[in-house]
Amino acid sequence: MSISIPPQTLTGRDPKLAARAVGLPHSPIRKLADDATAARKRGTKVYQLNIGQPDVPTPPQFFEALRSFSEPVLAYGHSKGHSDLLEAWSGYYARKGLDVLPSQIQITVGGSEALWFAFILICDPGDNVVVSEPFYTNYFSLAMAVGVQLHPVASDPSRGYPLPARRDLEAAIDDRTRGIMICSPNNPTGTVLTRDEIATVVQIAEERDLFILSDEVYREFCYEGTHTSIWQYPQAGNRAILLDSISKRFSACGARVGALVSRNATVMDGALRLGQARLCTATVEQIAAARLMDLGDDYYSALADEYKGRRDLMCERLGHMPGVRFEKPAGAFYLMATLPIDDADRFCRWMLTDFAYEQQTVMMAPGSGFYATPSRGREEVRIAYVLEKPELDKAMTTLAAGLEAYPGRRPA
Ligand SMILES: Cc1ncc(COP(=O)(O)O)c(C=O)c1O
Repeated sequence: MSISIPPQTLTGRDPKLAARAVGLPHSPIRKLADDATAARKRGTKVYQLNIGQPDVPTPPQFFEALRSFSEPVLAYGHSKGHSDLLEAWSGYYARKGLDVLPSQIQITVGGSEALWFAFILICDPGDNVVVSEPFYTNYFSLAMAVGVQLHPVASDPSRGYPLPARRDLEAAIDDRTRGIMICSPNNPTGTVLTRDEIATVVQIAEERDLFILSDEVYREFCYEGTHTSIWQYPQAGNRAILLDSISKRFSACGARVGALVSRNATVMDGALRLGQARLCTATVEQIAAARLMDLGDDYYSALADEYKGRRDLMCERLGHMPGVRFEKPAGAFYLMATLPIDDADRFCRWMLTDFAYEQQTVMMAPGSGFYATPSRGREEVRIAYVLEKPELDKAMTTLAAGLEAYPGRRPA
């Protein structure tokens, strides 16, 4: 039987979309995708340094678990998450020295849904969350979609984007502020917050009665010093909500497995009710993710060594490009660089539409998309070092050639 749908059932004007939908920005990370496709069609090789898609193989245990799933029916799972995964994730935290019970974990569709749940749980429409900028661009869209505002506080590029000064964070808090958001290691800056910086956030949150949202999806990507988790501050107690994900640490972005973690029973109950509203997350991926949780230190140190090598190579190459300014990032796999150009949006597009060096070009994310303040980030780009060193090296040669040829180049 075939059902034919008339091509256009509506007459006249389309109904109006909600303002919050119309206002949603396109991801700066993905918005040049069509230009990249066109460049490839012209035969140009595009080094994709715009997106945090790790290229290291997903550990084989994940695929073995997928293949060995043998239930006759793929049924709905528990809204909180599969018990194997909750237990395994708690075990993973224990090995990291973090005492997290399975009951304190809500499994989500990636860290993205955990972020979304967190905004919904702590804010009513019109409330806001304070965050240092630049910040992970999707915070903006996820918050905006549920009527939450972000109050950005500028972080200083020349000092490697540390936590903004306490007085600046406090100045951004008003009577509709419900939380402070931190992300360490940071996307897009690669900054790893110090113990003292996190302690400052905890103190402010206590004094101003706020939640702390701590995005720790890059926990293992720390090349200088050690990672500090919000969970290590018992005094943050019921204020702390940790957002987590397997996407980056296990190179499993497509699995869509994340977690919201809190000691606050009311937060956990709210998260469960949100979980129930969307029934459950994908069962087989959760079972497979559970198999990754007991990977040993060898796995993580090999991962960190690989990315540290890439970071060092990239910093070495960028350091020789006239007029390019950056601070060596301590973690994650991103770097924000200030370039000697008129406008990063224009430059990143031009690299794809008008430029090629030996039939190659580089795709980067323009910096402005990581700022909520309209005037900021115009000369910055975010570069993700997610390619193997020989490829990254060629990408850097291509970027250097692009900077030389760009008509909107400023004198160094
Ligand atoms: C800082 C940060 N948080 C959260 C996420 C969400 O990741 P996912 O939904 O794949 O877990 C990302 C993805 O790039 C990220 O960079």
